[in-house]
Amino acid sequence: MSAPLRTQVAIIGAGPAGLMLAHLLHRCGIESVVVESRSRNYVESRVRAGVLEHGTAELLNDTGAGERMRREGLVHRGIALRFDDCSKRIDFPDLTGGKTVTVYGQQEVVKDLIAVRLGAGGSILFECEVIAVDAGDDPSICYRDAAGAEHAVRADFVAGCDGFHGVARAAIPPDAVTIYDHAFPFGWLGILAETPPVSEELIYVNHARGFALVSMRSRTISRMYLQCRNDEDLGLWPDERIWAELRERLGSDRGGPDVRPGKMLQKGVTPMRSFVCDPMRYGRLFLAGDSAHIVPPTGAKGMNLAIADVYVLAEALDAYYGSGETALLDAYSQTCLRRVWKTQRFSSYMTRMLHRFDGQVPFDYRVQLAELDYVTSSRTAAASLAENYVGLPFESTADLRKVPT
Ligand code: FAD
Ligand code: DHB
Repeated sequence: MSAPLRTQVAIIGAGPAGLMLAHLLHRCGIESVVVESRSRNYVESRVRAGVLEHGTAELLNDTGAGERMRREGLVHRGIALRFDDCSKRIDFPDLTGGKTVTVYGQQEVVKDLIAVRLGAGGSILFECEVIAVDAGDDPSICYRDAAGAEHAVRADFVAGCDGFHGVARAAIPPDAVTIYDHAFPFGWLGILAETPPVSEELIYVNHARGFALVSMRSRTISRMYLQCRNDEDLGLWPDERIWAELRERLGSDRGGPDVRPGKMLQKGVTPMRSFVCDPMRYGRLFLAGDSAHIVPPTGAKGMNLAIADVYVLAEALDAYYGSGETALLDAYSQTCLRRVWKTQRFSSYMTRMLHRFDGQVPFDYRVQLAELDYVTSSRTAAASLAENYVGLPFESTADLRKVPT
């Protein structure tokens, strides 16, 4: 093994959490090294989430990483909820004092953050898999590079931004954390296709055959989802079946939006679960993003929550390196978990309101419809949905954005 590298913060994972953390720390004058198991090309083309909360878009803008998002991102002022073959709109600016969301693919955020980080001389080690994490008083990580050689990185702190299946959480003794876990009995079949969006805004559909969502990535590329089995066999879903099912759930033949089949660019199944690891810290190891929590995707919160975590962490590390103060680091987990649980609540609410559940009786379906009717007709209820969808304010005590570059 070569002589260990030394840095202030060793970051595992170049997803939105790890990259945004490295970017924010750099703005505070704190050194980091990001170690990522996949190639740059792989992380830049991995299709996942697509909706940026108001605060996430603002943070990218205010920290100099939002230039392309401002040009290519689609600002959305509302969503539609569709049920009983009827669409009802939730108007975000009207209900939230002017806030919006931005539709911009997660892989575009990842590309932009990588470009900003490398442009500033930052260190991102691609194709280097972390194989061991020491969270003791003298923390370090060990990684294996593409040639199979092993290297160590010593640091003051380790940030586990390595997603749900990473190594960081697994390095914490099981009796040091409480795990809250809930698997939903269904998943989403997601497609990316070359066809113009069926509507200007996203539509979330509650249909007797299951949930559907139509979203987009640009004026020519659509992203759409269908509720399916958790272990759905993609082989049973030729393109024609997907288009027919989308048309049926959207009510295209009953006055609903028209879905035009186009070239299928990608298909995949995402199982749905809720997961929380409490606390999100063990010694000098801090978990952020999917390594600490998973939300079901209804409401588009996963990536936004990852960004909100690292905002809190960067602020706490800034206070530590500025004055030696550990209070914010000590409060990190508690501060993040307040938002995490509110986001679990919202994502679970959206999921339960919009999906078909096994064993659901007609009574349950009528209650779902009543909920949809209520949330789209009461200004108070609609404002609550809108407030959560555009994103609750960051939990923070200072404002990192004021830190000069
Ligand atoms: P990730 O983006 O998972 O990044 C973690 C990084 O760590 C990865 O690049 C990984 O390669 C790397 N890594 C893992 N192990 C190691 C290791 N040992 N060494 C080095 N590096 C390692 N959210 C939504 O809101 N809407 C959606 O439609 C949606 N779709 C999704 C589809 C899928 C298939 C998945 C998995 C997630 C989806 N999400 C969605 C959730 C959202 O994409 C995540 O919440 C978001 O990616 C979290 O960012 P992160 O940085 O915490 O983790
Ligand atoms: C998208 C994903 C979501 O989970 C969601 O609620 C809205 C949009 C998307 O991928 O575009």
